[in-house]
Amino acid sequence: MASKYVVVQILLTLLSVASLSKADLYSDYYDKTCPELEKIVSETVLNASKYDPKVPARLLRMFFHDCFIRGCDASILLDSTPANKAEKGGRPNLSVRSFYVIDQAKAKLEKSCPRTVSCADILTIAARDVVVQSGGPSWEVLKGRKDGRVSKASDTRNLPAPTSNVSQLIQSFASRGLDVKDMVTLSGGHTLGFSHCSSFEARLQNFSLLHDIDPNLDSDFAQDLKKKCPATPLRDQNAGQFLDSTASVFDNDYYKRLLAGKGVFLSDQSLVGDYRTSYIVDAFAKDQSLFFKEFTASMLKLGNVGVSTNGEVRLDCRVVN
Ligand code: HEM
Repeated sequence: MASKYVVVQILLTLLSVASLSKADLYSDYYDKTCPELEKIVSETVLNASKYDPKVPARLLRMFFHDCFIRGCDASILLDSTPANKAEKGGRPNLSVRSFYVIDQAKAKLEKSCPRTVSCADILTIAARDVVVQSGGPSWEVLKGRKDGRVSKASDTRNLPAPTSNVSQLIQSFASRGLDVKDMVTLSGGHTLGFSHCSSFEARLQNFSLLHDIDPNLDSDFAQDLKKKCPATPLRDQNAGQFLDSTASVFDNDYYKRLLAGKGVFLSDQSLVGDYRTSYIVDAFAKDQSLFFKEFTASMLKLGNVGVSTNGEVRLDCRVVN
């Protein structure tokens, strides 16, 4: 048993080393130009989360969706214009909220160190802060990203869907330089937050020719979800399900629930049934500190996806300069 565990650890380490990032980002990038940066972002995020406990999950998801479309360039923060429907207007992003928190941090930073800190770096720091504030691990955020000038709603089609199978998920992450371990680890972001019924209701009725309900769903949990998401036209638009049983605490409960057949999305639950991913789910369900260590490494890699050091530092995160 112990030797199987050591093999898993070695495998995870090899996977991480094989795909270290190459972007030119630095932990001390703003040390001279904006020494108060991290304090300002962290206080802003903490204050906002106190008033609205949904903020941490929303900012973590916002960061993921930003990095997956055109890289971590804050393209998700740009507002639509009459001539252009921006990423925010893309279907998967309609439920991404709390953009005002990044605006608040940016406004304070423009006072203390004008024209210096990119919106992409603010979002990256905020994503780390919400993890820490929810009880998860901490890490040094690498900085120096520039903000992009392009944001298109149509690009959001390239975000992974909650109906994806493991091969589709692996492919989606691989095309951004993220490996299988990163994919399973970052899916652990679903330790925070909530989903609307529309993202998982296909599992609850007419699932397949053979099964009305997804057979990989725990049956009590399936009944619970059916109650929360009745198939009636008048259903509450806000109805849905928390993604794990401790949805405001960053922990490894998500993986434990996957093993119990209580993953909310088909994409989550599929990680248990595939030999390429199941050993990682097992390891994280058993060992929270291993999950935390790998989450840190994978978030650093996610933060390096498609990073541009040639863009601009936006003055207002919602509009290009
Ligand atoms: C593996 C592929 C992924 C898929 C298919 C996926 C899909 C989804 C979907 C459908 C929702 C619910 C949206 C809604 O109905 O409101 C959601 C929520 C969420 N996702 Fe993911 N996601 C994935 C990966 C990630 C990653 C990598 C992270 C962060 C590291 C993340 C963080 C979150 C968070 C925190 C929420 C809750 C948001 C809230 O409460 O407002 N997801 N995800």
